[in-house]
Amino acid sequence: MEVIKIFCPATIANLSCGFDVLGVCLDSVGDEMIIEKRAEKGIRIKEIIGADLPLAVEENVAGVAGLALLEKLQPDFGFDITIYKNIKAGSGIGSSAASAAGAVYGINALCGYPLTNLELIEYAMQGEALASGAAHADNVAPALLGGFAFIRSYEPLDIIAIEAPEELYATVIHPQIELKTKDSRSVLKQTVPLRKAVAQCGNLGGLVSGLFLKDYELIGRSLHDEFVEPMRSLLIPNFDKLKQAAYDNGALGGGISGAGPSMFALSRGREVAERVAAAMKEVVANADYENEIHISAINPMGIKELK
Ligand code: HSE
Repeated sequence: MEVIKIFCPATIANLSCGFDVLGVCLDSVGDEMIIEKRAEKGIRIKEIIGADLPLAVEENVAGVAGLALLEKLQPDFGFDITIYKNIKAGSGIGSSAASAAGAVYGINALCGYPLTNLELIEYAMQGEALASGAAHADNVAPALLGGFAFIRSYEPLDIIAIEAPEELYATVIHPQIELKTKDSRSVLKQTVPLRKAVAQCGNLGGLVSGLFLKDYELIGRSLHDEFVEPMRSLLIPNFDKLKQAAYDNGALGGGISGAGPSMFALSRGREVAERVAAAMKEVVANADYENEIHISAINPMGIKELK
């Protein structure tokens, strides 16, 4: 194979109670990337369409993740990368992760698939380190594995892929104000009281159990965040109203998508997810900034190869 074209999905990280340890892969939103082999070793970011992002390899998340993988694979050829960005930077739905995961997936494919998608995660995480200052895996892991991905441990890296219950749909609203992950990480307190940690453990256990048991009500009961939502929600316009509108219209639950400013709601069935989207739209009808709304099934396979 000399060239590969891929769909690089958006992802929702954290899912309320799983800060830095849980994420899910979306189906209807994502970037595209074309990665081509070339004779000269190394990586060149040839073009980025749809976003104003650096072309310099060491300053680009796809470049940095790709270089980390080249260190491991040592191919005697190089790669040209073209990125078609649809996921806006700073949206909270894994824009940098899509590029980092796409780069390592494409390079691995052009080298004959020596590594599994699970093994690629640690290289994609290097892109996240550049983008946010922290090598978190809760966007890159679901982007590469599909479904839900649960990070049991970072050192050593131990990641479990969880199949999504079939009727689960996500609604995501993206207020078009940029909130950099670096900035929304900087507002977080570094310690949490024991009673909050206990509640969070209960909810995270409940959410993971709900996914395995395909128990939609348990999933809904578990979507609470004691750690970051109280601080980060202050940075998101209309947060409480949007969340209430989601609940009032049948969502199982919801919260901040990744580091924000996007918000997500999970629902049982597309019809409910669409109703939630309409209700969210009404909440922001008079806002003086644009809002983008996505309704998506859960993507079971992550990055997809395109013809
Ligand atoms: N877990 C990360 C955070 C996700 O909340 O900062 C960023 O998309």
